[in-house]
Amino acid sequence: MKKALITGITGQDGALLAAFLLEKSYEVHGIVRRASLPNTARIAALLGHPSLHLHYADVIDAAAMITLIQTIQPQEIYNLAAQSDVLLSFTMPAYTLDTNASGTLTLLEATRILPKNSCRFYQASTSEIFGNHEAPQTEQTPFQPVSPYGISKLCAYWLVVNYRQAHGLFAANGILFNHESPLRGERFVSRKITRAVAAFAHGGTTPLKLGNLDARRDWGHSQDYIRGMWGILQHSTPDDYILATGTMHSVRTFAELAFGHIGCKLQWQGSGLQEKGLDAKTGQVMIEVDPAFFRPVELHSLCGDASKARKILGWEPTINFEGLVADMVKNDIENYKSAAYV
Ligand code: NAP
Ligand code: GDD
Repeated sequence: MKKALITGITGQDGALLAAFLLEKSYEVHGIVRRASLPNTARIAALLGHPSLHLHYADVIDAAAMITLIQTIQPQEIYNLAAQSDVLLSFTMPAYTLDTNASGTLTLLEATRILPKNSCRFYQASTSEIFGNHEAPQTEQTPFQPVSPYGISKLCAYWLVVNYRQAHGLFAANGILFNHESPLRGERFVSRKITRAVAAFAHGGTTPLKLGNLDARRDWGHSQDYIRGMWGILQHSTPDDYILATGTMHSVRTFAELAFGHIGCKLQWQGSGLQEKGLDAKTGQVMIEVDPAFFRPVELHSLCGDASKARKILGWEPTINFEGLVADMVKNDIENYKSAAYV
C-alpha cells in the first residue's frame, strides 16, 4: 500500500485529493492545524476511514514536520498547505512568506533526508507567479508576480526546481490556474457569488458586494486538477506543468451565469464605484461594487496553455465553465445555511 502525506488536507484541494487517493487504496496521512474550533468539515465524510491518519502539525514548525515525515516515511508528499488568499497576503505578507516559502523549504529538506529516491514531492504552484504577463501563459512565460502571495509561491517554485537539480529529488511544480468546487473557500469570488445566489434563492435581499468585475480568470473544476496533481507524480521523470482549461471569463460573466440559474438576468447600470447589477425583471439590486475588495495591485487576465500536460501526461479537463458554475450554484442552493457571505 502506497503512503501519501498531504499538507493542507483540510482545504478544498486537500479534501478532494484525500478522497481520490483513498479511492486508489493509498494510506493517506494529513496534517491538521490546531484551531479553537474543528477545521475538518471538508473531510468529515472521510473521518473514520481505516486508511486515513491525521496528525497535528504546521508547516512553519520545522522540527514537527521533520519528525513526522521521518516517522511516516511516505512515498508521495503533496504540499498543498498555504496562506492562499491573495488579497490577505497584502496585509499578512510575513505570515504568507513563512507558510508558503519557508514552509516549502522545510518540507523539501525533510524529503531530502529520507532514504534516497524513496519519496516524490508535489508542490502546489500557481498561475499567480506569471502576474500581468500577456495571456495565454505557458511554462516558458516569464514570472512577474504582483502580490506577496505570488512572490512567496515563486520562491517555493524555485526551491522545488533547485532541490530537483541540486539533490536529484523527484520534485515537481503543478502550476495550476484557478480551480473551484462546492468546497471552495467562501472568500474566493466564485464561491462568494454562488453563496449569494443561494441566499437570494432562499429569500435573501442583501446585495452582494464585489470588487473588480472585469478581472478575468481561467476557471476549472478542482476535481479535474486533483487528477492532474496525481498524474504529475506518476510520470517517470519530475517536471513542472501548467494545468488550465485555456478559456478565460470575467467576474462579471461568472455572476451573470450564476444568477441566471435562479431566473435572474443581470442588467448593469452606472460605472466605477456606482456600478450595480440589477434584476432586469424587478429592478432589485443584486450586486454592488465595494472598494474593500479591490487589490493594491490587480492581476487582470489569466489564461493557461496546458499543452505540455496534455501531451506528456494525457491530462484533459472534463468539466467546462458552465458545468463548474452549475455545480457550485446547485450545491449552495441545496446546502444553504443562512450565514452571511463575505
Ligand atoms: P485552501 O482551501 O485555502 O486550503 C489551504 C490549506 O492549507 C488548508 O488546509 C489550511 O489549513 C492549510 N494551511 C494553511 N496554513 C498552514 C500552515 N501554516 N501549516 C499547515 N497547513 C496550513 O487552498 P486550496 O484552494 O485547496 O489550494 C491548495 C493549494 O493550491 C494552496 O497551496 C494554494 O495556494 C494552491 N493553489 C490553489 C489554486 C486554486 O485555484 N484553488 C490555484 C493554484 C494554486 P486550515 O484549514 O487549518 O486553514
Ligand atoms: N476574492 C474576491 N472577492 N475576489 C474578487 C471580488 C471579491 O469580492 N470581486 C472581484 N474579485 C476579483 C479579484 O480582484 C481577482 O481578480 C478575481 O476576482 C479572482 O479572485 P479570487 O477568487 O480571490 O482568486 P485569485 O485569482 O485571486 O486567487 C486564487 O487563484 C490563484 C490561482 O490563479 C487563489 O486560489 C490562489 O490561491 C491561487 O493561487
